Amino acid sequence: MGGSLHVHRAAAGAQRVAPYPSRYAAVLARVTPDSRVLDIGIGTAGALVRNQELVLGRRVTVVGIDPEREYVTKAARVVAAAGLADAIKVHCLSIYEPGLRSAFAGKAKFDDAYFSGSLALLRDPVAALRCAATMLKPGGRVYVTQCFHNRPAPLTARLKPMLRRFTSIDFGRVVLAAEIAEIAERAGLHVIEDAPVPGSIDTRWQTARLVVLGQGSKG
Ligand SMILES: C[S@@+](CC[C@H](N)C(=O)[O-])C[C@H]1O[C@@H](n2cnc3c(N)ncnc32)[C@H](O)[C@@H]1O
Repeated sequence: MGGSLHVHRAAAGAQRVAPYPSRYAAVLARVTPDSRVLDIGIGTAGALVRNQELVLGRRVTVVGIDPEREYVTKAARVVAAAGLADAIKVHCLSIYEPGLRSAFAGKAKFDDAYFSGSLALLRDPVAALRCAATMLKPGGRVYVTQCFHNRPAPLTARLKPMLRRFTSIDFGRVVLAAEIAEIAERAGLHVIEDAPVPGSIDTRWQTARLVVLGQGSKG
C-alpha cells in the first residue's frame, strides 16, 4: 500500500468541496451510552480521536478495522497518544475477512457498526453491510456517513476509476443518495433515518448524509 497514507489524505484534499467534519460527532452522539461500536474503515483514527470527549463522555468503546497496514499502525499511535488505548482498539482487517465474524460472534457482538466514508470505497457494499450486520446484537444499528451524489454524475463516475489507475488514489465510486435504500434492502437492512450531516456539505449535486440502518426488512 506504499504511499497510500497520503493517498486518502490527497483524496480528502481533493474533496475539499465535500468535507463532513462532524460525521463522527453526529454518530457518537446518537449511539447509546456504553455502546461497543465496530468502526469499519477507521483509517488513521484521526477523525474519531478528534471526538474523544464524546467517546469518553458517553463511555463508548470502539473496535476499528482497516485493511491498510500503514493506516492501522498510524491509528494505533494516534489512539495511544490521545490516551484512548482502553477505549479504542485497532486491527488490520478487511470487513470481508471471515475470521472477523467468528471473532465477534455470540457475546462478543457489537451494539452498533459504523461506516464513516468507507462504504463508497468498498468493492461490494451489500456484502459489507451484511458482514457488519452479522456481528450486531439484536436491535443493533448500522450507521453510514458518506458523501452521496444527488443526481447522476456520469463524468465523475467515469473519472473516479481512471484516477485510481493513474494516481493509485482510491476515490471510491459515485453513490447516489437514492441507491442507499436498495443497497440496504439487499443486505437485509432497512433505512430508519436518512438526513444531511449537520454542518456538512449539502448542495444540489452532493450531500454528506447520515444514514441509520436497522436489522431486517421494512415490511
Ligand atoms: C475515506 S477513509 C475513511 C477513514 C475514517 N473512517 C474517516 O472517516 O476519516 C475509508 C477507509 O476505508 C478503508 N477500507 C477500504 N476497504 C476496506 C475494507 N474492505 N474493510 C474495511 N475498511 C476498508 C480504507 O482503507 C480507508 O481507511
